[in-house]
Amino acid sequence: MIKRLLYLVILLIGSIWISSCSKQRGCTDPIAENYNVDAEKDDGSCVYIYGCTDPDSKNYNPEATKNDGSCVYGSDPTPAPLQIPQIFVQYLGAPYIPNDNPQTVEGIALGRKLFYDPILSANNTQACADCHSPASAFTDTNQFSTGIDGIPGNRNSMPIFNLAWNTANKFFWDGRATGLEGQAFGPVVNPVEMHNTWPNAVASLQAHPAYPGLFEAAFGTSTIDSNLVVKAIAQFERTLISANSKFDRYQMGIEPLTPQELSGLNLFMDTQGGDCMHCHGSPANPLWTDYEFKDNGLQATYVDLGLGGVTGSSFDDGKFKTPSLRNLLFTAPYMHDGRFATLDEVIDFYSSGLNNTPNISSQMEHISTGGVQLTPSEKADLKAFLLTLTDYDYITNPNYQAP
Ligand code: HEC
Ligand code: HEC
Repeated sequence: MIKRLLYLVILLIGSIWISSCSKQRGCTDPIAENYNVDAEKDDGSCVYIYGCTDPDSKNYNPEATKNDGSCVYGSDPTPAPLQIPQIFVQYLGAPYIPNDNPQTVEGIALGRKLFYDPILSANNTQACADCHSPASAFTDTNQFSTGIDGIPGNRNSMPIFNLAWNTANKFFWDGRATGLEGQAFGPVVNPVEMHNTWPNAVASLQAHPAYPGLFEAAFGTSTIDSNLVVKAIAQFERTLISANSKFDRYQMGIEPLTPQELSGLNLFMDTQGGDCMHCHGSPANPLWTDYEFKDNGLQATYVDLGLGGVTGSSFDDGKFKTPSLRNLLFTAPYMHDGRFATLDEVIDFYSSGLNNTPNISSQMEHISTGGVQLTPSEKADLKAFLLTLTDYDYITNPNYQAP
């Protein structure tokens, strides 16, 4: 009896197995990309386009076939991922965006408004943009920028672009601020800049007719605090991307360089030529800086300690952040103290004006001869190459101008 039952069971399992094998297997879900009409048995191979499938949400994706839980509703801010240029995709890693400050449409718009608004300064006269103007690739044209009390600082304003790719994440000439959020705390209270206090700046924003609602839209609260102010500003700054210079187009195979520009590029890369690439990058680094802190022999005596003033180590005296060489046409004067008014002066300095300082970088390989000793025509070629790093679209991009 038991034997017979066992036989029956085996027969049953066997026939189910045989019949399942005979059915065609594939993806049986009609909404999948690879839906197979003939398939009778699903084999788990269905492929979907994931995204938000709810037409009532703020980020509905009509192409998406499977909801991935990313839908954003009502008062949630709308995600605004950075538009990464092709040349960065090709040569650079991902931009650095802190987990607690994702890019959103509302956050970026608020940051842009704050960046251009003198409300952050003590007497309502100076905005970030006064020292970081789009026409100058977000720096200014002064040797030293002057704050609200008419007192000049002791450093040259720095241009702002591609800072989301500064993965060293150290800001200012001496690297004293960590993160773009951390950086933005500085100027508001700097006595030779906006000379305000944070409680005062926050109170002005809170009393303003528009700002509480804008913070609500960006961060879900109309109670303003300094952390939210710097987050919004940092979001706007991360959208400031410069990647359409003549050299970028050359590197992407779209536009040729002239023989003179090519000769300048060779000098830039050649240790027996201009010897610039150690610190300022190469065609494979579209940032044109290594973001490291170095002494390039600028100061005969260390009037400004630079990194040393931050770390307290005398080995760091005279070291400053290597600046990007993009957009030099717009960013004069040059160096942390704005001592050089023209690119010709910069090139003359590297050619024959170096100071043999205690902490001079070992990458200044021609220090024993006071510089790389370029001929007048080599200097002209090097300059022509440097100017191919000019991005005219950057300074006129409508998304970057005052709102
Ligand atoms: C009075 C002119 C002035 C104002 C106003 C000002 N800045 Fe600056 N900014 C400077 C100077 C000068 C530096 C370099 C200072 C240093 O290195 O010590 C700088 C540096 C920076 C940097 C560092 C860039 C880098 O690559 O390290 C950022 C970012 C920046 N400012 C953003 C802002 C923001 C945001 C505001 C408004 C909240 C602002 N600045 C207001 C003059 C100014
Ligand atoms: C050892 C590293 C190193 C080498 C090599 C080097 N630089 Fe620099 N460069 C720096 C540093 C660091 C600064 C900022 C120094 C300061 O302000 O005190 C700088 C500043 C500059 C600036 C000013 C940019 C601005 O925004 O103010 C230009 C232009 C420049 N370098 C071009 C060149 C050229 C051209 C060469 C080759 C002839 C070269 N550099 C070689 C490290 C280097």
